[in-house]
Order: sequence, then C-alpha cells, then structure tokens
Amino acid sequence: MPPQGPSTGSGQGRLSRCGGRPTTISSLATYVPPRVLTNADLEKMVDTSDEWILQRTGIRERHIVDPGVATSDLGKEAAVRALANAKLSPDDIGVIIVGTVTPDMLFPSTACLIQHKIGARRAWGFDLSAACSAFTYAVTTASQLVATGAHDHALVVGADVMSSIIDYKDRSTCVLFGDGAGAVVVSAANGNGTDGAILDFEHEVDGGGGGALCMPAGGSLRPASHETVDDRMHYVKQDGQTVFRFAVRKTEEISRRLLERNGLTPQDVDLFVSHQANRRIIQNASEKLGLDPQKVVINIERFGNTTAATIPLALNDALCSGRLKKGHTVLLASVGAGFTVGAVLLRWGI
Ligand code: ACO
Repeated sequence: MPPQGPSTGSGQGRLSRCGGRPTTISSLATYVPPRVLTNADLEKMVDTSDEWILQRTGIRERHIVDPGVATSDLGKEAAVRALANAKLSPDDIGVIIVGTVTPDMLFPSTACLIQHKIGARRAWGFDLSAACSAFTYAVTTASQLVATGAHDHALVVGADVMSSIIDYKDRSTCVLFGDGAGAVVVSAANGNGTDGAILDFEHEVDGGGGGALCMPAGGSLRPASHETVDDRMHYVKQDGQTVFRFAVRKTEEISRRLLERNGLTPQDVDLFVSHQANRRIIQNASEKLGLDPQKVVINIERFGNTTAATIPLALNDALCSGRLKKGHTVLLASVGAGFTVGAVLLRWGI
C-alpha cells in the first residue's frame, strides 16, 4: 500500500514517506551561551589565522560554554523558550527527543535531564545519536510519533557542547566547532496547510565512513584510561577532506532525491537550510543543486559547527530576519559522522 502522506501541493504527495495524520513544526527557539571565542582568540591558542579560518570555513566566531555548563543546560533554555513560543505547558509534551553527541554523561540520557529541568511530567524521551544529522533524524522521528496519534506534541532538542570534546591544540578541528542549542515542538497539524506541514523525509547511514569522523575513546571499545587520555583520544578526530567530499556529494544527492519524489525541483524550494559545517560545503552542494544563493541560509560565520544545533539556529536566524515566512517550502539537509545523512521537506507554518 502506498504511504498516505499529506499533499505537497504538487499533486504527487502520495509518494511521501509520511503516513498518518499531518504534523508540523509549531514552535522554534534557540539558545547559545554568551561567551564568544573569536578567530583572533584561536590565533593565540594554535598556529592559525583569521584569514585561513574565514577563507576555508566561513567561520568568524563561535559561542563556548563556561566550565560547568552542560548540554542539558543549553537544551533546557531552548526547550523552555520553544514551549513558551508554542503557548504550551511542559505537561503538554508527550515525548522528548534530544539529538546530541555531547550528552552530559553517558547515562542517564540528556532527554531525562531536560525532562526533569523543564518539568515535563507526562513525557518519556530518549537521546538520538546521529551527530550532525541528529536534528533531521529527530524531527522525522518526532513527526512519526505524532502522526500515529501516539502524541499531540513532541519536543525535539538539538544541543551540543562541542567544546567539551574538542582538542584546543589541534588546529585542524578546534577552529570548526561551537556550542549551542535549538528546540522545536512538532505537533499535530490541521491538515489544510494553514499551520504548515512536515511533508516528507529521507535518511541514510553509511557506516563505512565511521573512521573519517569520530571520538575514538570513552566508549566500550576503548574505555577511559591513562593511555587514552595521554593519547588525546577523547577528542574529535577527522579526515577533513573525506568528510568534506562526502558532505557535498550526499547533501546534493539526498536533497535531489527527496524533491524528485515529491514532484518538486530545486526552483520550488523557498529556503534551503543545511547543516552548517563549512560554508564551502553548503555553497558547493547548493550550486550543484542549482539553488539561487538567495534561498540558501548560511550563518556559520557567527556560530561555527554546533552539530545538532546548526539547523534550528539557521532556521531561527532566517525567521528573525524575515527570510523564512509562513507557507514557504523549506528543505532541511544534513550530513554527519557515521556517516549519517538526512533531509526533511516542510511547509513552514509559524
Ligand atoms: N589554520 C591554518 N592552517 C590549517 C588549519 C588551520 N586551522 N587547519 C589545517 N591547516 C592546514 C593544513 O595543515 C594543511 O597544511 P599543509 O598543506 O601544509 O599540509 C592546509 O591547511 C590544508 O589543509 P586541508 O585539510 O587540505 O584543508 P581544507 O581546505 O580541506 O580544509 C577543513 C580543512 C576546513 C577541515 C575542511 O576539510 C572541512 O571543512 N572538512 C569538513 C569537515 C567537517 O565539517 N567536519 C565536521 C562535521 S561533519 C559534517 O558536518 C559533515
């Protein structure tokens, strides 16, 4: 039986993977810690330059937590704001999904910690590990839980304190990342399109790419030991060029596939909001897609790569600046460690 997705407006919505009742993003909020780490600050820490960082990545500055501030703290701030924007109480939330690679600790999950901090007494929840694709994966998962009728409102949090796993002696990684959080509420939609809709999604993994981007120690394979600490194995390691090439290729591929399945072309997209890992990745992928640069959101300059938080931070910037408007067709896309790949097609409803 073909999936019964909501119409995309193209007349071909029945091809969508979305089943059940319509869902939508009903609220969005973000939070970044106040402290800013500029390229000039990094020049004092490693052999780098503002010019190199800006030219090769597009990043000028990133926000960094103070000691003692954890992912659940950032996630909580974004979650509280998202609930307020949605005019919901914490008790309205049925499930909390937290995308992160920097949980406060291995267990309990950050979802449990955020549930407690915001007082969502009726919610269950879990962490979702998909690195930079965590936000697209979590929106899809939340949408499915709402579409089935299991819940009316799901809280999705994308939050990372990347500074907790970055080696500030490694110039090839430390210039790239920042800390931040974003949260959305995914709710049942009225179905007539006026409050927007999550139209369709597409996801992949390619576990063959695991070695290209990882944190080698601290898990069951290499538990923390003096040796793992001495060898600096509790930090992000990456083969930047492999990740770069994969990210450009897959961002284009998955975006094109999702649009085609819905009878759309890149020209039908009003706003393209991709994971923010490197300005050149976004520009190369969107050029290959043939997207008008006016429709491509790039805000990496101010935040760096905040992993699970980049897409909500970019959506929020677009919303606040008036680039994202109710009724817009929005394409989200992500590539992350794993490799994980995701795309979500939306009609914006806020
Ligand atoms: N400052 C100055 N020089 C540097 C720095 C730095 N911070 N980092 C690397 N270099 C040097 C290298 O040592 C190298 O020098 P050499 O030629 O003397 O050996 C030179 O710059 C070029 O290095 P490359 O690695 O070839 O530089 P590249 O242009 O590929 O840029 C980068 C590196 C920015 C990491 C890029 O490969 C990239 O963005 N890759 C994607 C990684 C990523 O985003 N991962 C995280 C998230 S996963 C995801 O979201 C997809």
